[in-house]
This record gives sequence, structure tokens and C-alpha cells, in this order.
Amino acid sequence: MTTPNSAESVYDAIGGDATFDKLVAGFYAQVPDDDILAPMYPKDDMEGAHNRLKWFLAQYWGGPQEFSENRGRPALRMRHAHFHVDRAAALRWLELMNNSLAQIDEETIPPAYRHMLTDHFERVAGMLVNQPD
Ligand code: HEM
Repeated sequence: MTTPNSAESVYDAIGGDATFDKLVAGFYAQVPDDDILAPMYPKDDMEGAHNRLKWFLAQYWGGPQEFSENRGRPALRMRHAHFHVDRAAALRWLELMNNSLAQIDEETIPPAYRHMLTDHFERVAGMLVNQPD
């Protein structure tokens, strides 16, 4: 299937947990070497950070409600309020996520779904900017 089908969740259509795990792992693999993002993330709890982001994305796209169960309301703007998120940080976050997405083949995530994911990432990243340039 190459176009979204409303009867099936995006989560299931693109391979469920395995795909979200890979996407998030690919993102976090780059964080420790990143000059902007590395200092913000908890070095001693990268596994926890991995889980939190994966739970959120899986839940948003129709998978298990693990984020709510483990963390409560998403409230992403509030959860990012104590990080210095300027435009450069948002662009870098998107760059690392796009690098990770690019490592997942088109059979697993067909172009239509890829666009849905990137649109969402861009929209949320823009919303999380909390510092002027
Ligand atoms: C705009 C640039 C962004 C920066 C600089 C940023 C930075 C961070 C940092 C430093 C954390 C703490 C890691 C942890 O301990 O869990 C975090 C958590 C998180 N971020 Fe972001 N983030 C950004 C964008 C996004 C976007 C676009 C999303 C979703 C599409 C997102 C979703 C999350 C989630 C779900 C958590 C875990 C929240 C929790 O459960 O406490 N972030 N982010």
C-alpha cells in the first residue's frame, strides 16, 4: 500500500513498534555528537529519553497509549519550557530526525506517510520554539 488508508492507523501501516523504535534510535544515535542538542539531553538517561519520544510518536500515530499511561498529558510545550529551544535548535532537531527517517526504506515508510511524519515534526518543532533568535 502506498497511499494512506483511513481504516488503518499510520502506526500499523508503517510497521508499528519496530519502525518507531528504529526512527527514534536513529535520532538519538546522533544526539551525543551534536553541538546544539547534546548538552540538553540527559546523558545518563538516554534510554528513558528514547522511550519517552517513542511512546509519544507511536501514540500520536494511532499505536498503544503508552505515553499517556507512563507520562500523562503530552503537554509538549510545557515539557520543553525549561530547554533553550531557539530556531537553530528546532532546525537541528528536524535535521537529525530527517537523517533518521532517510535511513528507513520506502517500502517500510512510503512517501505519503513520510510526508505526514515530516509535516507533523515541522509543525511541532515550530510550536516548541520558546526563545528569540
Ligand atoms: C524543536 C526542537 C526540540 C528540542 C530542542 C527538543 C529537546 C528535548 C529535550 C532536551 C528533551 C528531554 C529528553 C528526555 O529526557 O525525555 C525532550 C523531550 C521530549 N521531546 Fe523534544 N525537542 C524538540 C522537538 C520535539 C518534537 C518536534 C517532538 C515531537 C514531535 C518532541 C517530543 C518530545 C517528547 C515526547 C519528549 C519527552 C517528554 C516527557 O515525557 O517528558 N520534541 N525534547
